Amino acid sequence: MERRKFIRYALAGATALTPTGLGLLVGACRNGAPQGQPELITPAGEPFAAYPYDPVGAENFTNPLFIPGGEGPFGVLSVTDAPLTLKAQAATFPILGGRASPFLLYDTSYGGKSYQNPILRIKSGSRFTAKLQNGLKEPTITHWHGLHLPANMDGHPNNSIAPGKNYPYAFAVNNRSGTYWYHSHADQLTAKQAYGGLASFFIIEDDDELRLTSALDLKLGETDLPLVIQDKRFNATGELVYQPTMMEKMMGYIGDIVLVNLTPNPYLEIGPRIYRFRCLNGSNARIYKLAFMRGKEQLPYQLIGTDGGLLDRPYPATEVFLAPAERVDILFDASQLRQGETVFLKSLAFDPMEQDGGMGNMGGMDGGMMGGRGNNQSPQTAGNNRLANGVEFNILKLMVAKTEQASPNVPKSLSALMPIDTAGVSPRRITLSLNHMQWLINGQSYRRDAAAFEVKRAVEVWDIENATNSMIHPMHLHGFSFQVVGRRNSPAALRPLAKSTGGRVVTDQGWKDTVMVWPGETVSIAIDFRQAFPGEQRYLFHCHNLEHEDGNMMVNYSVPA
Ligand code: C2O
Ligand code: CU
Ligand code: CU
Repeated sequence: MERRKFIRYALAGATALTPTGLGLLVGACRNGAPQGQPELITPAGEPFAAYPYDPVGAENFTNPLFIPGGEGPFGVLSVTDAPLTLKAQAATFPILGGRASPFLLYDTSYGGKSYQNPILRIKSGSRFTAKLQNGLKEPTITHWHGLHLPANMDGHPNNSIAPGKNYPYAFAVNNRSGTYWYHSHADQLTAKQAYGGLASFFIIEDDDELRLTSALDLKLGETDLPLVIQDKRFNATGELVYQPTMMEKMMGYIGDIVLVNLTPNPYLEIGPRIYRFRCLNGSNARIYKLAFMRGKEQLPYQLIGTDGGLLDRPYPATEVFLAPAERVDILFDASQLRQGETVFLKSLAFDPMEQDGGMGNMGGMDGGMMGGRGNNQSPQTAGNNRLANGVEFNILKLMVAKTEQASPNVPKSLSALMPIDTAGVSPRRITLSLNHMQWLINGQSYRRDAAAFEVKRAVEVWDIENATNSMIHPMHLHGFSFQVVGRRNSPAALRPLAKSTGGRVVTDQGWKDTVMVWPGETVSIAIDFRQAFPGEQRYLFHCHNLEHEDGNMMVNYSVPA
């Protein structure tokens, strides 16, 4: 009852308060592209001249944050036994000021409701059955990011389906609770399709999760909020633009408009209590350094989960890095605030080390891009882009506007997190390098039909060394979660955050499927490759900077029969 009312309020409120409101699109997003029109993202005209969405300017944060409801866009869809049909299709979506933009989405109907890019919510241990329908004009396939699946259910690019075709998925969801996600993984088209909209959350629940939500009285869509953070570019008429230059294919495509749940410059009214923010970096290439700021004061929060679900206990934090595909599950206690106070979730300035060494051979290719250095906020120097990776900007404005009773205490323990026993394991070396404008893994570019190496069905340790010295690479493993056991040669930007044993940062405390490897750094991860699926299983290991991924910074590895 309560919940239904809230959903109506959120959708109607968004529509009424701003033309940006996604509530508009329940009706608007159902039509595909007109015949003969390019259905994907079009390059059209000049970017915004006035740039009214500059996230550096706090005054621009005037749009109510879109909060997923029980249906429609990003509606929370509790999956039962009934099979789901997800149709990937082109549509339009009003993002900037209510102006329709080309957009790609997964459309479905379930239990008499319709959804676009549904937030799938499922109990650990249950079965998931879905049919992907390709309603696009190019191949696609869907990957369930973070899930432990047999290779043929994993959405490997080799399983991409042609327009008009279907791919049947049926699997048991064996992961522990956590904030996972799904997105396109089409061969060479992942960056464009995920950027274009083919991505959403996959939330898994188990007993640990239920204990936490009941202890803290959290409600998904009210005080437990999935936040997908993305940077995108638009043309002057508000259409999404994806048109990477050669240099941007090399470095990654970053945007100058920052969206949370597809809302530009969002604000959220909160009460003085605990909130849970499940942050997903759904960007192609931008890295965020997340902090809550009251004026110049950095407020404390608690990290309770990472890519693979809950930590053993809450860890205090004031800033964490979040690279593409990573998730952090955060508790922010707004009872430390007074009514009327404003706090910003920000990305703090940091040096992404994008110009150090290694890129000398790139000089002269695109002077503008190379000028887009860390802390320089001058729009001109960032080449095509006004918001360089590493500059400081606002993400979400939080306003204490509601009164609510005080929050209960955060449980002292959250879940059992057994460290993988790596005794006696000698590490496998994985080296990331750059050669002739190709990002390489162990000297190799992606080969569709070959495995770069075979693992043992046992515990392995991988020492991943970033020898490119010119960029951070968020490395992602399909098929298994892993644990970060140590970092060596971490750069100055990371060292102050490395407060745990082995030079690890707080986000290294939990199960991971994606890990940032900084220039010059070596990150050691432990993976238990014992699994129940018989026969050879072939999975991907790749950089989740999506331009790097499509640029073949990817290998297959095989788990032998
Ligand atoms: Cu989230 Cu291989 O991808
Ligand atoms: Cu994945
Ligand atoms: Cu990379």
